[in-house]
Amino acid sequence: MSARFNDNEFKLLKELLLSYEWVHRTMLTKLNIIHEAHKYYQNTNPIGYITGRIKSAESIASKLHKQGVELTAKNAKNHLNDIAGIRIICPYAKDIYFLAELIRSMPDGNIISEKDYVTNPKHSGYRSYHIIMEIEIYHSGKTETLPIEIQIRTEAMNFWATLEHQAKYKYKEQIPKHLSDELIICADKIAELDDRMFLIHEIISLINNDSG
Ligand code: GTP
Ligand code: MG
Repeated sequence: MSARFNDNEFKLLKELLLSYEWVHRTMLTKLNIIHEAHKYYQNTNPIGYITGRIKSAESIASKLHKQGVELTAKNAKNHLNDIAGIRIICPYAKDIYFLAELIRSMPDGNIISEKDYVTNPKHSGYRSYHIIMEIEIYHSGKTETLPIEIQIRTEAMNFWATLEHQAKYKYKEQIPKHLSDELIICADKIAELDDRMFLIHEIISLINNDSG
């Protein structure tokens, strides 16, 4: 049977998830402002679109269970940094670094960690830029600070990660070697495509600047 919170902890977790929901909405609003401001002031946009999710109680339970810690709301808060998650899809890989810098320089957020799997892909072939950030919210007369995970990647990287995630899920993490080898090859090809599409974009920009 899958791991479950007891009734009391489940109630506490539901309360905690509400705070994560507010943190999530706060960050989404900040990012949407960046997105809209770029539309208004510039003719290019480093953000294609933004998605997000709050981890379900079931998946929090199974992650805590995997970590071998007791299933409590307090442990969820202390052991997991990705209860609130946001994914930003960028047109080009270089936009990822531009956005990371923008997020880093937000005046009212505190960066906990950054992982650059774009320059240093994982063994699986996974590419993405991860930022864990702390966000402050004010409610019920108190300030609460909670982390949020921001994953920044291109559409091509996202396409790969989605398919690979499905494969991992299907094979319960143990993807057969011939498939994982094939996925690594695809990840490299996808990175090459990202580079080539960016080059086309650069050439078009140069031509437009010359003729403008
Ligand atoms: P988690 O415990 O899974 O959160 O991993 P972590 O704490 O080692 O952090 P990491 O930055 O490696 O991964 C965080 C998240 O990135 C995962 O929850 C996935 O959403 C995504 N991710 C990391 N590695 C892979 C991968 O090999 N394939 C796919 N599809 N996604 C990955
Ligand atoms: Mg995760």
